[in-house]
Order: sequence, then structure tokens, then C-alpha cells
Amino acid sequence: MSKRSRLVPGILVLALAAVGLGVLVLRAAAPAQALGNGLALTPPMGWNDWNAYGCNVSESLVKQTADRLVSAGLAAAGYQYVNIDDCGLQHNRDGAGNLQPDFGKFPDGISGTAAYVHSKGLKLGIYEDAGTATCAGYPGSLGHEQQDANLFASWGVDYLKYDNCNNNGSTTEAQYVARYSAMRDALAATGRPIVYSICEWGINSPWTWAGNVGNLWRTTGDISASYSSMLSIFHQNVGLASSAGPGAWNDPDMLEIGNGMSATEDTTEFSLWAEMAAPLLAGDNLVNATATTLSILGNKAVIAVDQDPLGRQGRQVSSSGGLDVLAKPLANGDVSVVLFNENAGTATVATTAAAIGKSGAPSYTLTDLWTGGTSTTTGTISASVPGHGVVMYRVAGGSSASSSPSPMLTSTPASASPSASPSRTSTSPSPSAPRSSQAPGAACRVSDVINAWSTGLTSSITITNTGSATVNGWSLTFTLPSGQTITNGWNAAYSPTSGQVTATNVSYNGTLAAGASTTIGFQATATGNTAAATSFTLNGTGCAVG
Ligand code: GLA
Repeated sequence: MSKRSRLVPGILVLALAAVGLGVLVLRAAAPAQALGNGLALTPPMGWNDWNAYGCNVSESLVKQTADRLVSAGLAAAGYQYVNIDDCGLQHNRDGAGNLQPDFGKFPDGISGTAAYVHSKGLKLGIYEDAGTATCAGYPGSLGHEQQDANLFASWGVDYLKYDNCNNNGSTTEAQYVARYSAMRDALAATGRPIVYSICEWGINSPWTWAGNVGNLWRTTGDISASYSSMLSIFHQNVGLASSAGPGAWNDPDMLEIGNGMSATEDTTEFSLWAEMAAPLLAGDNLVNATATTLSILGNKAVIAVDQDPLGRQGRQVSSSGGLDVLAKPLANGDVSVVLFNENAGTATVATTAAAIGKSGAPSYTLTDLWTGGTSTTTGTISASVPGHGVVMYRVAGGSSASSSPSPMLTSTPASASPSASPSRTSTSPSPSAPRSSQAPGAACRVSDVINAWSTGLTSSITITNTGSATVNGWSLTFTLPSGQTITNGWNAAYSPTSGQVTATNVSYNGTLAAGASTTIGFQATATGNTAAATSFTLNGTGCAVG
């Protein structure tokens, strides 16, 4: 593969950190409505190669990982899907227009690989794109939906992740629904049960329309293996509970457990994802995973919360000063509670049985899902929680309000408000109506994730600069519209495990009055390679820049 072809167009994800006074906006969400293919009645569990390997996927990796899922006990714990992400195909269709496996990477093709995975009692997933090319530049399925779906079914594919790069310039919701529904119908016509995973990064609010299109839908841009990325994605996903239910799940992206966060942070991600009824798709090198990583991924009490048949996504009961309480009603009347401390230092996080929807008992039993310890309480549910950590309880006793609407957020968060991120491919225009908000008086501050960089970089990098910098031959440049300058500099980090560059803490001078907007460009280049420019639009709500 040429160097050029390894350069993946940047997907730029904007997550506004609305510092200060933000009132949490509970985003409108359509009632849960399932696709009706009878699949994914609990959130899908498995593994995907992308986070740890990028384009370096192969049949041997897939087979070794399938073996490891079994030998490590993860298959028995529920991890079922072994998913091949981008870069498993050839760059051209054959003479009959069929997609072709990269036989260098997959000597037995996808069908041979699927047969092996099936022989282990597991299922095989594949990746395609609702555009003219995948994010890594392989042929897309737009206009070839039925032919490709038929091929996937003939290969024995059980799961399709369907991405959004090179999407023919589509921007409107109707265009998104049309592209993603075409593959839904094509998959249905094959007659093979294939879980359908929509990956449009939350651009067109899929939680409002994808319930009867896909079994799950990404709600955000790409995750990376950092606490800040995981936290940002949690904030974007947590307010979408009302659109989730059996067969229809919000997808805050694959797990980064084992990819570089601390064990505390890995435990936090697993707890939050389970509480949010998210797909649990491990994204690490499972073959060499540590005992700690395997024990986090294998925590059956937490998995049971994620896989609870009631299928409710946990809701934020309270959030103040970076201390969050989430509650998830469970099928047997218990309630799962996560006490989450977003901040660096240890803090007490507290709630009550009433606040999580429990009532009618003189005392309640709390089972700590990470230590296994039990305790009782007459009402207060409280714990000392380490920085970036969680305490997760299963609360039993009394009756629960699980059949009525779950508790809603009542307080105001101090740190960030969730907002869907305007994202775009490098070949299509920015969404016409960026969904972003900023707290009045707050700095205009952004975090970006630039997805999928050259595999030529092998070491972690952190750079702090203004304007531009060169790292390992890559030149990173922010371009700003006339009259705008970067005042506080910016930080960028490259993670070889995720293959992503993350730029954070970018601040702009000037004030974005309500109704005003500005566009910021980002360009990444390296010798012989140029990623198409990406840009995003900030919609002003009166943020002032310090
Ligand atoms: C997009 C998706 C990622 C991954 C890459 C592959 O960025 O969001 O999850 O599939 O494409 O190129």
C-alpha cells in the first residue's frame, strides 16, 4: 500500500468544553424504536481491531484474537463478535463489480476467516462505508448496497459496521437516512441475520432517526486512548438515554481499555459504558492483554448491568462540580448506580435511594460491583471515589420506579455540556447546522480528534505550540479566518496505539456573539502526503475569550 493510501482523510470532531455556567441540555430524542430484525436485543459485545491496530488487520490477528477470547474466558462472559474494521479489502472491485478481500492480509479470504471464527462459537463482523470510499480509501458501498450485502452474507458475515466517509457531499438528515436505509434493506433482503451498526459519528442526530434503521449508531466522533477523550464522549452520549432500548443502542465507540489509560480510568470506562447500555467492543491487543485488562473486561457483574434484558440506558441523576451520579433500572427491580468522580483528586460522591428511583424499604442492600463487598443503607448512597474513578453499586430492596420515566438530570454540571459534534469527512462540506453550544462568558475552547494518521509514526508525541509545528515529518497547522488568532496556544498528541492525533485546549480571541459563527480550519501535511483540510464551525452564544 502506498504511503498516500495510508493517509486517511481526517475526521474532525469538535467537542466544545463549555466551561462554567452551562445548563445541561437534555437533547430531544425519539422514543426507542427498534429495527425489528430481532438482533442485538442486548448491546453487542465483542472486539474490533481498529483502536489497537489501525490498518494493520489480518486473518492471523483475527484468528489469534478469537482464540484469546475463548481461552481468556471472555467468550463465555458474552464477547461474541470478532470485527474486522477498515483496510481488509483490495482497492478495486473485480470485473463483476464485487469487493475483493486483500488476500495478502486474509489468505483464506473473509469467508475462510469467518469459518474459523464460527468454529470457535463466535461471530464475524466486517466494515464498509455508506459512501464512494471507506475512510482509508477502499471501495465504498454507495450504489452497490445489494451486491455487497449479498457478498457479505455469502462470506458468513454476522455484523456490519457502516461508516460515513466520502459520502457524496450529503449533509441533510434525509440524505443520511436514505444512504443508511439502503443498506438496511439490502441486508434484510439477504435473509441472513446481520447486526447493522451505523457509524455516522452523531452528525445528523442518529438517535432521532436510526431506531428503525440500525441496531446501534455511533453518537460521537472517534474515541482515543485518553481520559479526556473518553470523558468527552461520555458527556456527549449520556443525555441520549431515551432513544436506547432492545435492538437499538447509542454507541459511544469502542473500548480503549488496555490501550494506555490507567487501570482506574479503564475501570471507569467499562463502568460508564455498561451503565449507558453501550456496545462492549474491546479495542485492545487481546492476545497480549494484561491480567488487569482481562479482569476489567471480564467483570461479569458489570457485564450483567450492560446486558440487562430491560435494556434501559442509565441516566444522569445528578452532576455537579465534576461529580456524577448515574442510575440504570434493571429487569429484576434492582438499580445499578455509578458514582463517578471526573476530577483528579479523591472526592465523596453521594446520592439517595429516592433519587435513583428506589422506595418503600427500611433499608437497601448495596453490592459493590468491583469489590464484591456488600453493605446496607437506609437511604444515603455515598462513597469516597478516587480521581477519574467510579464506585459502582447494584442496589436491591424495596420497589423501583423502573416502569416509569427514569430520574432526569436536575442539577447543573460545572464542567461540560454534552453537544453533538459537527464532524465531516475531508471531501464533503461541513454540516449546515453545527450543533454546538458554549456557555455565556466562557472561552471558545475546542478539542479535536483527527482520525487515523499515517502508520509511519511509532512513538507517542505531545506538542505544545501556536500556529503550527512539525513532528516526525508531519506538519500540523491551524488556519484561522481573517481577524482571528490563537491566543492561548494549542496542544496536540499522537497515540500510536489509536493512530490518532488529538488537539486540545485551542482558544480563540474575539467574542462569538449569539447568532454569530466562525470557521476554523485544520490542515495536516507530511512529505508527499496531504490530508484534505478539515474545518468546523463554532456557533456563538456569547462566549468571550480569555
Ligand atoms: C472512521 C470510524 C472509525 C474507524 C475508521 C476506519 O473514522 O469512525 O471507527 O472505523 O473510520 O478508517
